[in-house]
Amino acid sequence: LWTPANIVEDAIARVRETVGGDKVLLGLSGGVDSSVVAALLHKAIGEQLTCVFVDNGLLRLNEGDQVMEMFARNMGVKVIRADAEELFLGKLAGVNDPEDKRKIIGNTFIDVFDTEAAKLSDVKWLAQGTIYPDVIESAGAKTGKAHVIKSHHNVGGLPEDMSFELIEPLRELFKDEVRQIGLELGLPWDMVFRHPFPGPGLGVRILGEVKKEYADLLRLADDIFISELRAAGWYDKTSQAFAVFLPVKSVGVVGDGRRYEYVIALRAVETIDFMTARWAHLPYEMLEKVSNRIINEISGVSRVTYDVSSKPPATIEWE
Ligand code: XMP
Repeated sequence: LWTPANIVEDAIARVRETVGGDKVLLGLSGGVDSSVVAALLHKAIGEQLTCVFVDNGLLRLNEGDQVMEMFARNMGVKVIRADAEELFLGKLAGVNDPEDKRKIIGNTFIDVFDTEAAKLSDVKWLAQGTIYPDVIESAGAKTGKAHVIKSHHNVGGLPEDMSFELIEPLRELFKDEVRQIGLELGLPWDMVFRHPFPGPGLGVRILGEVKKEYADLLRLADDIFISELRAAGWYDKTSQAFAVFLPVKSVGVVGDGRRYEYVIALRAVETIDFMTARWAHLPYEMLEKVSNRIINEISGVSRVTYDVSSKPPATIEWE
């Protein structure tokens, strides 16, 4: 009988049998899949698990702190946080092309992860949050963090003295099953039912060159949008929602003053498979509130627009 409790029990037994007393390393992104793997492995092997969480400076507001709070502080998972914002932003300086940005972010992630992994001793296993759709997904698809580590591992890019065996405890599960076992393992509802977040993070939501100033503004705008979506009960009715930073300036008036500042686009879509998507018909009142809050609360933004493009032809992300 398939129940979340049975699956968890079974997975724990299998992990214990597979790794025995060996040490396991996991790249924790804060997304659903790697979080569920972290919770599962922690329950199965406790102290034998070490997670590496890379803060690339392209995460959402307070995301790094929240990951540390949930896993390290509340659950007692061993998590190494690599604060690499400066490194990532330095490498992205002057780079405008979306695919170049993706490559730089992916490669830098691998470098940072390897550096942290190299500091650990006797790690035998590399755990990954690969789920069944990843297994069947075509090789040409855009890469997420998990895929990045995986392909990297497969091409032997890890330092010579490190050869890991792979362990992928979610490999046979679909997303909804992964969520069910996440809840079973005690992860909070809000984390288990999060919208997907791309590996390159805000890097592909800041059009063109990525700068810290832009990322900071975008984080604030995105946080307002997502909070209002949650408050209005719309977060769970949309599949993915986020703000996008447009590095163009637009004129506005605030009080007696003229403002000449940046533009934020809001994007919210409904989709089953992310291959096609319809823009979400959010209530005007809610959009009005989000727009007013963003413009009033963020001094670097003077205008907000709502993206009414469906996929196809538009992609969900702007880059
Ligand atoms: P698009 O923009 O292609 O997005 O319609 C479809 C889904 O894929 C996510 N996405 C990415 N995820 N690395 C990722 O891990 C990427 O480079 C990437 N690009 C897009 C996007 O957020 C959406 O869920």
